Amino acid sequence: MTLKVFLTGASGYIGGEVLNQISRLDASHHVRCLVRDKGKGAAIKETYQKVEVVEGDLDDASLIESEAKAADVVLHLASTRHEVSTRAIVKGLNDTGRQKAGYWLQISGASMFAGPQMKAGTYGEAEGKTYDDIADVEEIRAVIRASPGRIVDNLVLDQDQEQVKTALVPGPIIYGKGRGPGNTRTVQGPAIAEYTIKNGESFQVGKGENVWSTIHVADIAKLFVSLLSAAADGKNDVWNEDRIFLPENGQIAFGKFARLISKAARDQDLIKSDNIKSLSGKEIDQVVPHGSIILGTNAKLSSSRAQKYLDWKPTEVSLEEDIPRMVAEEAERLRDGNKSTS
Ligand SMILES: NC(=O)c1ccc[n+]([C@@H]2O[C@H](COP(=O)([O-])OP(=O)(O)OC[C@H]3O[C@@H](n4cnc5c(N)ncnc54)[C@H](OP(=O)(O)O)[C@@H]3O)[C@@H](O)[C@H]2O)c1
Repeated sequence: MTLKVFLTGASGYIGGEVLNQISRLDASHHVRCLVRDKGKGAAIKETYQKVEVVEGDLDDASLIESEAKAADVVLHLASTRHEVSTRAIVKGLNDTGRQKAGYWLQISGASMFAGPQMKAGTYGEAEGKTYDDIADVEEIRAVIRASPGRIVDNLVLDQDQEQVKTALVPGPIIYGKGRGPGNTRTVQGPAIAEYTIKNGESFQVGKGENVWSTIHVADIAKLFVSLLSAAADGKNDVWNEDRIFLPENGQIAFGKFARLISKAARDQDLIKSDNIKSLSGKEIDQVVPHGSIILGTNAKLSSSRAQKYLDWKPTEVSLEEDIPRMVAEEAERLRDGNKSTS
């Protein structure tokens, strides 16, 4: 079945990769993308002729509501936390004039599991369990419900699955080069690589024993596309109260992450020292926005749901294998004068 899809974040890292994969499907869904920048909209149109660009901002509530109302599927990939746009999507998908239930696929962040460490200020320590998205789903829901500030995640859980079929996908460390028409660069690995190249040595937060799960951008995008295809095929078992899909292909401690980045930088003659500096949570926040959270906490996931219901499996290279490429790309970006990668 061909679907009407409304997608946000098409000029971004995750949304761009998802758009790229949708464009390769045999099914030709009608895709409308919200884009705030005219130039980026033109680039999207040039690359994907069949895609329609809707010029607008996430704060344009009435526009987003009407797009969501007209869509079969909303892929909200621009932001994990933007309340205005999310409430507008909820309103549009719950409109009483709709002929059939719509679908809402939402990006989220695995920092949802870092709450206790953020509260205690224990950064760089190995803490917490690995959450499995089938075995631990009740606990994961309780984690979200205990964080009313995570408004978007809570709104997903609030939806009646008969009216709006939802899937929440909290991303862990996402890595790899995106293939979208805009930003192709992720956050955590490049932030460590940038510091390493600029300072001649790498860093970890505290003891560097904290661990996050990892996923390649093409694999998390494939999960969104599998959800889209499940909607198109009318696969009903996917859409139930549990609705949380944790994507991962392994875990890495940030101390090891720093050592591998340091080694790649030395192998590429970018730095000489193999020293790994230890920074406190406060110090890293001065260097990387929210660094203590995204580089100093633990967020460990286990993907069972997508494998069971969507036959999804990660197939891309591991983070470890991608690090030399990522470091080389970061060095090039810094030589080019900090231009964002696209
Ligand atoms: N990358 C990761 O490792 C990761 C992991 C988990 C969760 N996340 C979260 O997932 C979300 C998307 O991440 P990303 O890496 O794809 O980010 P990104 O590359 O910065 O892309 C963000 C996208 O959203 C668009 N956007 C942002 N604000 C907008 C606004 N006010 N109006 C219209 N469009 C707007 C951007 O448009 P412009 O091109 O015009 O800026 C861009 O297309 C973020 O909330 C991020 O925190 C990221």
